[in-house]
Amino acid sequence: MFASRTNRSLTPNRLSQLIEERRQQGLPLLDLTESNPTRCGFNFDAEKLLGALADPRALGYEPDPRGLLAARLAVADYYAERGVQLEPAQIFLTTSTSEAYSYVFRLLANPGEAVLVPRPSYPLFDFLAGLNDIHLEPYPLAYHDGWRIELETLAAVLDSSLRQVRAIVVVHPNNPTGSFVSREELECLLKHCEDHALALVADEVFADCAFAPDDERVVSHAGISGALTFTLSGLSKISALPQMKLAWVVVNGPPDVLSKALARLEVIADTYLSVSVPLALALPTMLETRHSLQPQVLERARTNLHWLDEQLAADLPVRHLKADGGWYAILKLPAIRSDEDWAVELLTGDGVFVHPGHFYDFLSEGHLVVSLLPPVEIFQQGIRKLLARVSRYG
Ligand SMILES: Cc1ncc(COP(=O)(O)O)c(C=O)c1O
Repeated sequence: MFASRTNRSLTPNRLSQLIEERRQQGLPLLDLTESNPTRCGFNFDAEKLLGALADPRALGYEPDPRGLLAARLAVADYYAERGVQLEPAQIFLTTSTSEAYSYVFRLLANPGEAVLVPRPSYPLFDFLAGLNDIHLEPYPLAYHDGWRIELETLAAVLDSSLRQVRAIVVVHPNNPTGSFVSREELECLLKHCEDHALALVADEVFADCAFAPDDERVVSHAGISGALTFTLSGLSKISALPQMKLAWVVVNGPPDVLSKALARLEVIADTYLSVSVPLALALPTMLETRHSLQPQVLERARTNLHWLDEQLAADLPVRHLKADGGWYAILKLPAIRSDEDWAVELLTGDGVFVHPGHFYDFLSEGHLVVSLLPPVEIFQQGIRKLLARVSRYG
């Protein structure tokens, strides 16, 4: 009766089952995976945010496939601050970055065709690909005192793929490695785009969360006009407002292909007209609140990171893999058991919830991923327990 798109195991994984059991038994949980900013104790300007949703103009409806012009102008201003000049016609509003991915995959790829995605990376790619009938070809990021795209392997993946590849996806900075695309890497990716007629898709939801400035990294992919480029971002991370369901895709590229892409994307967007008028009217205000949220998020991430690195300075069998930005830290543990087993032992033995690396498709065992957003006391309590347990095996 059902299409195969949702043919996935519907049984919760081992960790989810154990968490549910703990909750039912009323046992304490130190959740080091918490990355929902609305649950991390940040200070939101409620009056401003809720006030923005009460604009009387929300009682009228003048549908625009790209979304309300005033909202797109605010997005264009956001990029102008980063030195990228855009026409509002290059911007499409969506209800989430996930929806933006779907629009772009639908635009670029026929069923069974492929896009290149980083590995390790964002777990949702699998689901987004499945729902859009496309195939993922992973290209590796390798760690050598910092994460880099393995460009040689990427080229080999591209050459050997048995499927028609339509795009290269980058996540800038990547979740969970916290690595940005460097200018040098971008040059190589653009050469592949030119040689193989590929589009570049850049997910920049975490782009404003850099731990330190670095001239070597790409500022934003939104200004690239050498290849057809789709830059995705939104309020869920920029303004720490995932509940508002407001994101966008910026399209850029050589003029002839750009105008064709815009016309076709307009057909997709016009089919759904998905962003509501009250939210679109509120977008400029919600985007502006990033000026008070981003410093809070960055301060939290930096405090937790700094404290983590202080703890790891001692001779412990745990390392923190260097990240340049984003909301996550990767811990490297002895691979004496699977990362899933580490996560299960921490949960059942200490009530500490961390993500095993395989959620993100790490190529080897011994990686745990923690969020940098939990309140400092929770983060410290959880990490102390984690270090105490792992040290027993050191
Ligand atoms: C890399 C990346 N892209 C996109 C998103 C989600 O964005 P949205 O809430 O706009 O769908 C996330 C959420 O964690 C993410 O990690």
